[in-house]
Amino acid sequence: MEVIIMKTYEEVCEESAAIIQEAWRQENALVLGFATGKTPLGLYERLIELYNQGGIDFASVKAFNLDEYVGLEESHPQSFAYYMDHHLFQHVNIMKENIFRLSGRPADIEAHCRSYERKIQEVGGIDVQILGIGKNGHIAFNEPGSSLSSRTRLEILTQETVLANRQFFQDEKELPRFCLTMGIGTILETKMALLLASGKDKAEIIARAVEGPVTASVPASALQLHACARFVIDEAAASGLSNLDYYRWAYENKDRASDLLKIVALKTGN
Ligand code: PGA
Repeated sequence: MEVIIMKTYEEVCEESAAIIQEAWRQENALVLGFATGKTPLGLYERLIELYNQGGIDFASVKAFNLDEYVGLEESHPQSFAYYMDHHLFQHVNIMKENIFRLSGRPADIEAHCRSYERKIQEVGGIDVQILGIGKNGHIAFNEPGSSLSSRTRLEILTQETVLANRQFFQDEKELPRFCLTMGIGTILETKMALLLASGKDKAEIIARAVEGPVTASVPASALQLHACARFVIDEAAASGLSNLDYYRWAYENKDRASDLLKIVALKTGN
């Protein structure tokens, strides 16, 4: 587990984009897992900038979305499909056929989730999974209590999450109560988990996720079991951590390429 502490949110986005760019340099046919929410917006802006400058190319990149609200059409402005199109995909040269999403309206939910897992396997697994973290510790929509070995499935949103979403939906009847989400077990199998967090209101949950016990009550704490988890966070989000000095020292002294070499080694079996 690596904790990378940057001064500002802008630097969090810059550093995360640099990690993705480096992974892409190692493997142009990168398989990226994408997250939604406020936090990754700056990262997506930075990736678009890099793309426009010729620093990254999405022609061979494959994309998987982490989750989706049940009941929403892809064209709904609150759907995660719409979010990703709007904030990244339509601004870069990613191929439509390389974008894989969980549908909000599948005919058979279980079959759809199984086939999503199969698809991830077929492309050789997710190389870099971008993640945010909820104030309750959720990653993707794995709410507290989710099994640490859960797979892609239907999840019931917490009341807290439903209420927080109210502001985004004019029609109360449209407010999603269910979602489809990659499971914690699915996320643990990705080759790198790249979690971004910013702001004081994430400080407590970051401390519990990084330094607290591994527990289903804090789904993000499962990342302590991940072979290559990187938390890129700003100083405000890091302010509840006890081992700050060590994280800074380790970051300054570490060859940043080593985790990326691990990805290549996993892919080539070396
Ligand atoms: P946020 O959401 O980036 O909007 O804070 C994170 C999450 O709930 O996963």
